[in-house]
Amino acid sequence: MPEMARIEKTRKETHDVKSFWFRMKNGRTLNFRPGQVIMVSVFGFGESTFGIIPTEIKGVYEFSVKKMGTVTEELFKLKSGDLIGIRGPFGNGYPMEKMKGKDIVIVGGGIGFPPLKSLILTLLKKRSMYGDIGIYYGARTPEDIVYKKDLKEWEGNGVKVRVTVDKGNGKWKGHVGVVTTILEDLRPGSLAFVCGPSVMLKFVAQKLRESGFKDRQIYVSMERLMQCGTGMCGHCNVGKVYVCKHGPVFGLDELKKLTEKIW
Ligand SMILES: Cc1cc2nc3c(=O)[nH]c(=O)nc-3n(C[C@H](O)[C@H](O)[C@H](O)COP(=O)(O)OP(=O)(O)OC[C@H]3O[C@@H](n4cnc5c(N)ncnc54)[C@H](O)[C@@H]3O)c2cc1C
Ligand code: FES
Repeated sequence: MPEMARIEKTRKETHDVKSFWFRMKNGRTLNFRPGQVIMVSVFGFGESTFGIIPTEIKGVYEFSVKKMGTVTEELFKLKSGDLIGIRGPFGNGYPMEKMKGKDIVIVGGGIGFPPLKSLILTLLKKRSMYGDIGIYYGARTPEDIVYKKDLKEWEGNGVKVRVTVDKGNGKWKGHVGVVTTILEDLRPGSLAFVCGPSVMLKFVAQKLRESGFKDRQIYVSMERLMQCGTGMCGHCNVGKVYVCKHGPVFGLDELKKLTEKIW
């Protein structure tokens, strides 16, 4: 059953992406790993799945939403003080233990970037536990770039941030090209975490392999339409397992065993 939560704040990221900060009405603390998801309900309209992001404020959590259809359009209309329903957190999240002492490569595309924000903030909180961090983010156009302020703040202290757009505009001075064209300094022994549309996952995985990464060093987040979130309804399977329970984060070696057609 969804539990009630109150929206504390919203922020417009782009023309079709909005971030929401919320607090559980019963005061419950949500313990979650970066990469896990919550089911958010807009009463009377339905539920959708979003990556949950930690914040500096105890008991307050964030998620970012791209306007896609019925539920997300209704979410966009909500403001501070409004109530939503929350279930979860669900899923496995990122393997934080395996990252200790390793160089980390993070590649995000489109609305695949918000679930990675949770990972980035968690790594930065205990910065000294990890090696160098490369953050590579591809958006469709400069107007589609989310978290502009955060991207500037994350750079430095062994963290490299590279942003590219598929199509520039008159004002854009940065890189133009798909996200694989900014992937650099890919060192053997690193671990890579990739989230974005299937086509992006496919080409990023290919480039990482060409740079010497083994499938067990590449983790991808799978997106499937979810309903129950608890492995009961069978809506979100990859091979014999369910994305809501066993995923959404899978090592590429593991995925290859589960399904012949990954992308
Ligand atoms: C593990 C996971 C993490 C996610 N994290 C985020 C996040 O942090 N932020 C975010 O904005 N979105 C995220 N999503 C996607 C989000 O759940 C969907 O975009 C949302 O449910 C759309 O709801 P809607 O009712 O507005 O759209 P609908 O009216 O249901 O659909 C609109 C269109 O999008 C298609 N669609 C909807 N959901 C999916 C899906 N999951 N896969 C493929 N096609 C789909 C539909 O077929 C339809 O064409 C995540 C999804 C998963 C599975
Ligand atoms: S959403 Fe029901 S099994 Fe995953």
